[in-house]
Amino acid sequence: MENKIKEFELENEFLKIKVTNFGASMMSFVEKQSGIDIILGFEFTKDYFLYKQYYIGAIIGRCANRIQNGQFELNEKMIKVSQNENKHSLHGGVDGISTKIFDGYKKENMLIFTLLDEDKSNGYPGNLYLTVLYQLIKNTCKVTFCGISDQDTIFNITHHPYFNLNGVGNILNHEMKIETDQVAFVDEQYITSNISMNVKDTVFDFTKFNEIGKQMNKNHSNIQLTQGFDHNYIFENMLPKKMATLKTKKLCLEIYSDLPHLHVYSANFLKTNQYGKYAGICLECQYYPNAVHYKNRIQPILKAFHQQMHFIEYKVERN
Ligand code: GLA
Repeated sequence: MENKIKEFELENEFLKIKVTNFGASMMSFVEKQSGIDIILGFEFTKDYFLYKQYYIGAIIGRCANRIQNGQFELNEKMIKVSQNENKHSLHGGVDGISTKIFDGYKKENMLIFTLLDEDKSNGYPGNLYLTVLYQLIKNTCKVTFCGISDQDTIFNITHHPYFNLNGVGNILNHEMKIETDQVAFVDEQYITSNISMNVKDTVFDFTKFNEIGKQMNKNHSNIQLTQGFDHNYIFENMLPKKMATLKTKKLCLEIYSDLPHLHVYSANFLKTNQYGKYAGICLECQYYPNAVHYKNRIQPILKAFHQQMHFIEYKVERN
């Protein structure tokens, strides 16, 4: 594996990123004037392999988040996918897309990664041809996923960087704003349920800027269960939109996407040689977790020989 690993850098006046072709994972994301690397990352690709269960900076698929019992029906057929968290399937299964070695190259203001994820890989039907683009446009880093398959399949790709706008310590003093007032409950096994609530005046309320640590201290049984945020914020539309803002004294990060929901994970169980609990926060634009079991939600289905494309934009500003 080692000799196929390559690391790529891309830079403009404002930003500099480094990406490895292992899982097309983002290794660093530097705001140049402050010199702050705003994501958690390792110096060498081998550590991405070692700590792959944390999906640090990775591109995740074919299905981000959990699929209950690792099975679902597609076109009246029962599909069984790889179970890697108890009996459930998390983030694409045992060797999901985040563990695959992509082909990568650099062109103008872009890094381009391509992967053929073969039919039945982790149980998913269809040969999926996936392209991931990282693009720098002024002070924005845009990530685009494009998929085409020869059979109907699941296409719920996300990007899983852990942001920390201080570049050190934890994210408890970061302020966050989320552009929706609806959040979903999780069950004891961290499966997102189909039950949502209005966040008003609860621990989940980020309709205005609130400090993450302060919010987390408010009592709520669903936050005790996950030891921090591991919850899905509901937008339920595929329009390009601002989804969240993260802010410290020095920097501000805005997240835009056409994906229908935002999963917020405050690194509650992160444990590596460099990083621990709350060292970063993941703001993952994705389809509704476990949507294949909730037909009222937008379905992450890619039809055979149809191309599907989604984007996530990270816009970084100095305060
Ligand atoms: C996601 C999940 C978390 C956890 C992390 C990876 O964001 O929602 O529960 O599994 O990925 O460690």
